[in-house]
Amino acid sequence: SSPKYIRYHGLLLPPSAHSMESLEFAQNFSVEDTDVFAVTYPKSGTIWMQEILPLVLSGGDLTPIQTIPNWDRVPWLEEKRLALIVDQLASPRALVTHFPYHLMPPSFLTSKAKVIYVMRNPKDIVVSSYYFHQMAQFLEDPGTFDEFMEKFLEGRVLFGKWTDHVKSWRHAELGDRIMYITYEEMVQDLPAVLRRISDFLGRNLSEDTIHKIAEHCSFKTMKANSMSNFSLVPKLYMDSDKSPFLRKGVAGDWKNHFNSEQLARFTSVIYKELEGESFSLPWSLD
Ligand code: A3P
Repeated sequence: SSPKYIRYHGLLLPPSAHSMESLEFAQNFSVEDTDVFAVTYPKSGTIWMQEILPLVLSGGDLTPIQTIPNWDRVPWLEEKRLALIVDQLASPRALVTHFPYHLMPPSFLTSKAKVIYVMRNPKDIVVSSYYFHQMAQFLEDPGTFDEFMEKFLEGRVLFGKWTDHVKSWRHAELGDRIMYITYEEMVQDLPAVLRRISDFLGRNLSEDTIHKIAEHCSFKTMKANSMSNFSLVPKLYMDSDKSPFLRKGVAGDWKNHFNSEQLARFTSVIYKELEGESFSLPWSLD
């Protein structure tokens, strides 16, 4: 069978979405001062932030949500599709990337573009990713959960090790251009997170608008919206009979998947890799 991944600066990427040309296009991309980037490690709440950003930037305009698929409203910097749609993006532009900080294009570093970095508890990421690998036919078969967890801890998965990604963005020297939020905060109180995002982006949204956006970005509404739930993607590529893209949408599903050995191993590897770091994690891992 054909190789499932291409390698780029040590990262594994699926060739269905990425090519050397698209990665070069990303490097040469001309970032504008008004651009906003959602940055995540895969399965941390990427499409959720893709849904939110244009709504906050437009002050709650719902039309694009009903007419443009999620991935074209907020395209991936590193994927092939960007070159095709870049001229059609609404202004100010919102983009998304899974790149670690050191792979961002030079024009990003010298711009005033802002970043919203979404972190999720890695125990829930590995579970979410395990199901995603079952449905996403362009990814490697995950094997058993135990096997997949080892791959995850060793970074033999999309975009490498979670700890490397988090470290790179926690050390990014972007001052007030970057805001850090967690998936768990979003689950707990989406309107509160939307108020923070709105302030960060210099929007002054009314409470009515905040609540309207929260309703449109709820798990239930997004799961029912064909422009957001990936049901438009051919089954050959994403088989939602195996597991839907919007799967559970909760914090703490790891408790239904980890046994006590797996928990001990997972916790010790992650803590060891973050030893001596100046930042602390927002969740306890044990
Ligand atoms: P689960 O598999 O745990 O349900 P990404 O977009 O980075 O690939 O992340 C996908 C994860 O985010 C999935 O987690 C998905 O259900 C969850 N998600 C997407 N939209 C959400 C929403 N509106 N509310 C809660 N979780 C959401």
